[in-house]
Amino acid sequence: MPGITTRRKWIKKAAAAVAAVSITPSLFATERERYRAAGIILLNSNENAYGPSAAAQKAMAEALSGSNRYPDEQIPALKQQIAEFWGVGKENILMGAGSSEILGLTSLLVSSVKGHVITAEPSYRVWNSQAEAFGLSFKRIPLAADKTHDLSGMMSAMDAGTRMMYVCNPNNPVGIYVENHLLRTFAEECSKKCMVLVDEAYTEFAGLPSLKDIAVGNPNVMIAKTFSKIYGLAGARVGYAIAHPDTIKKLGNLQPWNDVSVSMVTAAAASAALKDQAFVKDCREKTRQAREMCYDCFKQLSLDYIPSYTSFILFNIDKIGSDFSKKMQAKNIFVQYREHFGGKWCRVSMGTLEEMQQFCSALKEIA
Ligand SMILES: Cc1ncc(COP(=O)(O)O)c(C=O)c1O
Repeated sequence: MPGITTRRKWIKKAAAAVAAVSITPSLFATERERYRAAGIILLNSNENAYGPSAAAQKAMAEALSGSNRYPDEQIPALKQQIAEFWGVGKENILMGAGSSEILGLTSLLVSSVKGHVITAEPSYRVWNSQAEAFGLSFKRIPLAADKTHDLSGMMSAMDAGTRMMYVCNPNNPVGIYVENHLLRTFAEECSKKCMVLVDEAYTEFAGLPSLKDIAVGNPNVMIAKTFSKIYGLAGARVGYAIAHPDTIKKLGNLQPWNDVSVSMVTAAAASAALKDQAFVKDCREKTRQAREMCYDCFKQLSLDYIPSYTSFILFNIDKIGSDFSKKMQAKNIFVQYREHFGGKWCRVSMGTLEEMQQFCSALKEIA
């Protein structure tokens, strides 16, 4: 992710400046301390500013001393816990190092016969270059006028070469979703001809139901889930697939060591995080408040924005210009510049309420 590379360089520079007057924070010191030391606010990668929860941190600390052992017992136990959480079987779950691994494995699976993936434009793309390296190409179907997926347009684009339909719901970077019943019908129809991968990275922010019940009974429908977003564990790298047992088996065969990409410490964090639904609720509410704060600011500045159901907002910066993110960066605030719908946009992730106040003040100064 280019935004991340830039921010790493910036933090290195800023940390060096801090070192001139104090002790350099270590690379593995808590993220919050390092960024606070450097005075940096990260609103460019849709991370959860409140995570990991206290329960997840405690579980990780307790699991540390077990890191000399392979997580032979812990991963099956975590899968069982996730399965019970969703009311599915353990054989319906595959663990990965983030949902990115699940997206990659699915791409590899469908690429055994060369062809293309149909996806929305814009949508989440980070995994696309890996899929291309596997020999897949992409057909990108513009969003409908209301900025939701153009499901019928995507279906019309299907042909004998279509290997997979990818639907990110709610969609990154626009932050809105297609109605569950529409997506259900779409998945049922398209799965007769190809794999349908539904990326549910942000469903918890929207309070959206999962499509997992279709996936467990249909070998051509897959759900990708992550602990990186509302659970606040992006750095721990843990995600999973919910799918039909045959599909889970095929995906597992593509892993060098089935399910073991998740470490002992990370498995402990995920297990504690899943139990801590109070934290999830709190993050959802604080994120909602942060969005409202941003909307007020955009309205005051007459900036167009797309009302979001996620932890980020896409707002229009045609009036401000493409150097907006550089200007924000000069104020130690990282956001993502985007070109969509023939215009200039900024995608801002929701930080803490305090961070969002600083973002709004900086935006007002620049705009
Ligand atoms: C829609 C979507 N899917 C998947 C991912 C990958 O997340 P991870 O690999 O951390 O689970 C992201 C990360 O930003 C995302 O926005």
